[in-house]
Amino acid sequence: MSATVEQQGPIGAPVIETFGLTRRFGTLTAVDAASLRVARGEIFGLIGPNGAGKSTLIKMLTTMLPPSEGRATVAGFDLRAQAAEVRRRIGYVPQLLSADGELTGYENLLLSARLYLVPRKEREQRIRDALALMGLIEVRDRLVRQYSGGMIRRLEIAQSTLHSPAIIFLDEPTEGLDPVGRHTVWLHILDLRARLGAAVVVTTHYMDEADMLCDRIALLDHGRISVIDTPAALKERLGAHATLDDVFAEMTGESSDRGTYRDVRRARRAAREHA
Ligand SMILES: Nc1ncnc2c1ncn2[C@@H]1O[C@H](COP(=O)(O)OP(=O)(O)O)[C@@H](O)[C@H]1O
Ligand SMILES: [Mg+2]
Repeated sequence: MSATVEQQGPIGAPVIETFGLTRRFGTLTAVDAASLRVARGEIFGLIGPNGAGKSTLIKMLTTMLPPSEGRATVAGFDLRAQAAEVRRRIGYVPQLLSADGELTGYENLLLSARLYLVPRKEREQRIRDALALMGLIEVRDRLVRQYSGGMIRRLEIAQSTLHSPAIIFLDEPTEGLDPVGRHTVWLHILDLRARLGAAVVVTTHYMDEADMLCDRIALLDHGRISVIDTPAALKERLGAHATLDDVFAEMTGESSDRGTYRDVRRARRAAREHA
């Protein structure tokens, strides 16, 4: 397997382009010279084990964390020199829950509309549209602490898209959700892309999700991008019956997490054989 980073698949005008983006914390290099391009309207997956650097990369791309080295353009603006312009054009749903449980869904959306500088005259309409798009009209006046996990995630996605961003960053949007909740969140992400034409950058460690929904995937391990390609092409490299789990185990090399994925895969196979 080649260790060089390859960039394949269709690329229109890129909405994100990074060159050697690097972030160090003391002696630890959390993201090591990441170079990638994301096209308009593309769903781009960042896949990797815990600690791979996925959240750190997203935090740099959303201007929440300054890079130690390298540069990037996001939505056509320079990440460092034009951070305010970048922020106006992106939506960000962080890994940890960000909606306020003591407020209603509507009140959370109103706060976000102000934060994202949605003009006052447009606020009510945009909030109505966002609630409809995320399937939350019926619960708009309920306190968020009474929402299910999936409903909270959908509300947060609605909050992050009120200003019609060109790019939406979602850090583990389906973590901790049951299969139905995960599925609903994903359907809404697809719908969002279709309606806004926005690019979506999403992290997950659910391989089935990445396989079904991402146009292209970057595999991250120990801060390094080992490969960028379509799910189909990634599987093709390992033969007809490979799954993305297989690809992941192969690509992440000698990492300490490799065993985990290998073991899970072996256990699943054994379970199938004994079923
Ligand atoms: N603020 C921070 N200070 C020090 N180390 C950090 C900080 N944020 C992340 N790290 C470290 O950087 C590495 C990558 O973390 P992260 O980007 O959160 O990975 P992932 O999202 O893929 O699980 C980890 O080793 C983590 O402990
Ligand atoms: Mg993370």
